[in-house]
Amino acid sequence: MSSTPEKRISILISGRGSNMEAFLKAAQSGTLSGRVVRVISNRPEAPGLATASEANVATTVVDHTLFESREAFDAALVDAVSQDSPDVVVLAGFMRILTPVFIDAFLGKLVNVHPSLLPNYPGLNTHQRAIDNGDKEAGATVHYVTNELDGGPPILQVSVPIEPGDDAASLAARILGFEHIIFPEAVNWHLQSRLIQKADGAYLDGKKLPATGTLWEWQA
Ligand code: GAR
Repeated sequence: MSSTPEKRISILISGRGSNMEAFLKAAQSGTLSGRVVRVISNRPEAPGLATASEANVATTVVDHTLFESREAFDAALVDAVSQDSPDVVVLAGFMRILTPVFIDAFLGKLVNVHPSLLPNYPGLNTHQRAIDNGDKEAGATVHYVTNELDGGPPILQVSVPIEPGDDAASLAARILGFEHIIFPEAVNWHLQSRLIQKADGAYLDGKKLPATGTLWEWQA
C-alpha cells in the first residue's frame, strides 16, 4: 500500500452532469488519480445530483437563488467546498459566473472544461458561433480558471471536424464524448503533480504549455 495520502476531488455542477459521471466512471475503473469526495450543485433540480448519490458520492446544494449577490453566494460556496479540503475543484458544467471571492480561494486548483477551441469563443453558444463563422473545426478545452471568463491557461484541447449538415446539437454531442476523455486526463496530471498553474500559464512536466494547451492526440 502506498503511504501517499489519497487526493481529493470536489466537483461543481449545474445540470446533467455527464462530465461528472465521466470522473465517477474513471474512479470505478481505477484510472482516476484521486477520489471524488463531494458533488455540489447550485441548482437543487440538477439531474447530476441523483447520479452522484447513486454512486454513493456525497452531494450538497448551494442554491444561488437564495443569495442576494454573486459574492454572497460565492462565500457560501467557499465554505461548502473548503470543508472537504480538495486538491482540485472541477467545474463540470457549472453554469454560474464566479467572482474573485471563490476563484481566489482556490486559484491553482480550479479546473474547467469549455466547449470551444479556446481562446476562440469564450462564453455561451460556442457550437452555434463556430458553425455561423464557417469554421472547419470545433472542440473543447480543459483549462485552469482565473478571474478572466474562460480566459485561464489552457491545458488540454481536442479538435473535431465540423461536418456538413452539423447543427449546434449534433456538434455539441460529438464534442461532449471527447470532453469525457480529456477532462479526467487533464485533472489526473494535476493530481499527479505533473501539471501546475503559474502566473504566466500552465506547466506540464516542467514545460510551459502553448496558448491552446496541449493537443489531445487521436488514437487509432
Ligand atoms: C459541457 O458541454 C461543458 O463543456 C459545458 O456545459 C456542458 C455540461 O454538460 N460547459 C460550459 O459551457 C461552461 N462554460 P454536463 O453537465 O453533461 O457535463
